[in-house]
Amino acid sequence: MKYPKTKEVLNQLVADLTQMQMIVHQHHWYMRGNRFLKLHPYLDKVMDELADQLDQVSERLITLDGSPVSTLSEIAAKTKIKDEPGNWNETIDERYAKIIAGYHYLDQLYEQGIKASDEEGDYSTNDLLTGFHTEIEKRIWMMAGEINQAPELDPE
Ligand SMILES: [Fe+2]
Repeated sequence: MKYPKTKEVLNQLVADLTQMQMIVHQHHWYMRGNRFLKLHPYLDKVMDELADQLDQVSERLITLDGSPVSTLSEIAAKTKIKDEPGNWNETIDERYAKIIAGYHYLDQLYEQGIKASDEEGDYSTNDLLTGFHTEIEKRIWMMAGEINQAPELDPE
């Protein structure tokens, strides 16, 4: 097996990107309050981006003769992003803070994949993950800005 560490991170990303999409969907459905009309549709774009990353990460894993997790039970067992039942009693800022926390985890996981693929010489995966890592960090900046916070990707 040529790229074992890279493939393990790719499969972890399959589980966590699926879970993150579900969490964003939950907040898209449950949000109420000021800015709803702007931030409800914004989360559609966020989900589209996650869905695109998920499909490409999974297909890269298959290209490397790997087998992506593909059932809800496998994903629930594998993901490291916690979920909780939907509730109506959160502000939009609290919802965005939770989504941003999940994005910080994804940011770190992409960095692990970038390092693993560099070490193992899988430069195509390295290129793919570097682009997605940049997209995740840009979303962190934008969503943090929306709730009046710094991105905190490199705090001093
Ligand atoms: Fe919707």
